[in-house]
Amino acid sequence: MSQIDLMQWVRSNIKSLKAYQVENLDEGIKLHANENPYPPSPELLNKISQRLKELELNRYPDPDGRNLKTAIANKVGVRTEQIIIGNGSDELIQYLMQVLCDEGRTIAFPDPSFSMYGITAKCLGLNPVSFSLNENWDLEADSTLEILNKHKARLVFISYPNNPTGNCFSEQEIQHIIEKFQGIVVLDEAYQDFSGKTFLKQMETHNNLVVLRSLSKIGLAGLRVGYGIFPAELAEQVNKVRLPYNSNSISQWVATELLNDFTPVQNQINSIINERKRLMDELSKFSSLTVYPSNSNFILFMDSNGGDQLFTTLKKNGILLRNLGSHPRLKNCLRVTIGTPPENDQFLDQLRKAVS
Ligand SMILES: Cc1ncc(COP(=O)(O)O)c(C=O)c1O
Repeated sequence: MSQIDLMQWVRSNIKSLKAYQVENLDEGIKLHANENPYPPSPELLNKISQRLKELELNRYPDPDGRNLKTAIANKVGVRTEQIIIGNGSDELIQYLMQVLCDEGRTIAFPDPSFSMYGITAKCLGLNPVSFSLNENWDLEADSTLEILNKHKARLVFISYPNNPTGNCFSEQEIQHIIEKFQGIVVLDEAYQDFSGKTFLKQMETHNNLVVLRSLSKIGLAGLRVGYGIFPAELAEQVNKVRLPYNSNSISQWVATELLNDFTPVQNQINSIINERKRLMDELSKFSSLTVYPSNSNFILFMDSNGGDQLFTTLKKNGILLRNLGSHPRLKNCLRVTIGTPPENDQFLDQLRKAVS
């Protein structure tokens, strides 16, 4: 019988990390994870059950995801050689760091922003550096560039729109960073379908740009499909670290179908955008809430009466939001994902009861 102290071999930067944690709710309304509240269309669900019988699940998936890349290329207007498919866009964030950063190298991102930039960097032994957003949750190019230069950052991640604040940063400030930064700018456009804004066109004139997208926010969170659009020569390098068969057959097939017949998804997106406006108007009526503008499928708000308490009361009543209060600049802040109209009504009902 061996009884070894296994922890002695775990790298210290891993031991000091906390695993990415998401609260869950067995029953109730989940407005905490920025998912699409609508299931895939009945037509797509039908096709999936038919196709499942034909997919050779005993065989490995297409390692190059050719059909899916063609569907992405057609939808987005880029060449297939520029595309890398990820098991969620999370995976591509990791690949970018692996390919471009030696140990100890700095990667940078705004604060507050998506937590996986920092977590992934620490896992890989890199130096994560953040730069503060201003009071409008916007970034300022000059001070950002100063920090990037000081730390000789190799990569800067810009969530556009930004999670968790919900807004798109000023185009002009981002443009300035793209033009002046001596490194790679990653535009993480996971929520692009809800903003309609993209930096993709800039890739034609600037080769220090990478754009990441995700299908998690528009209906396929359970299948884990993200993709990145890279300068082709960089895509070739990323392909070397990509795990073999990182995207499974079912995900590839369903994502291809979804992109090739996008109308049902676009209708869902339109409904979410309409509901975002309604929810924003309704939330703004509460005098104790400060509501921040959103270009995403979620809204950030601050409750001056105490966010933790509101979060707990809503959860007890079957409504799960994301509590961001542990972040120093997000004290009393909660994030609500836009649900279906009935889900949003129930959220507002419970909110009225909790706040009054
Ligand atoms: C800004 C941002 N980027 C990337 C991701 C990861 O998405 P995926 O599900 O494609 O890994 C998320 C998920 O919440 C996100 O908010």
